[in-house]
Amino acid sequence: MRIDKLLANMGFGSRKEVKQLLKKGSVNQNDIVIKDGKQQVDPEKDNITIFGEQVVYKPFVYFMLHKPAGVITATEDSRESTVIDLLEADDLVLEPFPVGRLDKDTEGLLLITNDGKLAHQLLSPKKNVGKTYYAIIEGKVTEDDVEAFSQGVTLDDGYLTKPAILTILKSDTESEIHVTITEGKFHQVKRMFEAVDKYVTYLKRISMGEWQLDNDLEKGEYRELSIQELEYLQALTVKK
Ligand code: URA
Repeated sequence: MRIDKLLANMGFGSRKEVKQLLKKGSVNQNDIVIKDGKQQVDPEKDNITIFGEQVVYKPFVYFMLHKPAGVITATEDSRESTVIDLLEADDLVLEPFPVGRLDKDTEGLLLITNDGKLAHQLLSPKKNVGKTYYAIIEGKVTEDDVEAFSQGVTLDDGYLTKPAILTILKSDTESEIHVTITEGKFHQVKRMFEAVDKYVTYLKRISMGEWQLDNDLEKGEYRELSIQELEYLQALTVKK
């Protein structure tokens, strides 16, 4: 495996940042400095160090799941089926877990990984990662709602949400919308609509930042992330 891929996968930064680390001569393979990102290493056999510290190899896995309704976002549960039950046995070996929560009846984009560092960073409210949902709403969504969302709305517990971008796709007795939020409060989208006296009847997450649900994935299907997708998510979490 290439040293730059290994280090990026292990959370030492984006490919670009790893390149810098290599360029500075901070990385050794069996006590020899390596500067070329293309250098092949065997993570199981080679002694890799960064700044003299041994890199303990733990392979990471990253999956995009099209979550169906009816399963809960948890690793295990005595009564309910979980998103992890949808994975094949081989993919369970490295003990991946879902990042963040979608309600049982919510569908759509979900990251499943064993990379705790990336998960933690993606969920951090400080990172402001926009999560976009498609929803069907009982009631006529209006420009007043768009304006209210843009200011933030007050939820049932008195919490004032951060501003959200609401786009009306269809406005009738039943409406269709896209909404982008940057937080992840419990039932947030549903409660935001309740705050403007409307009711969400269907909810699907379609993107996180520019990372989009793959339309080729049927509900319940999943696939590994591409290198580009992984690099994108890692770059989102880099300190600004
Ligand atoms: N907001 C909700 O209300 N539910 C979800 O599952 C995600 C966001």
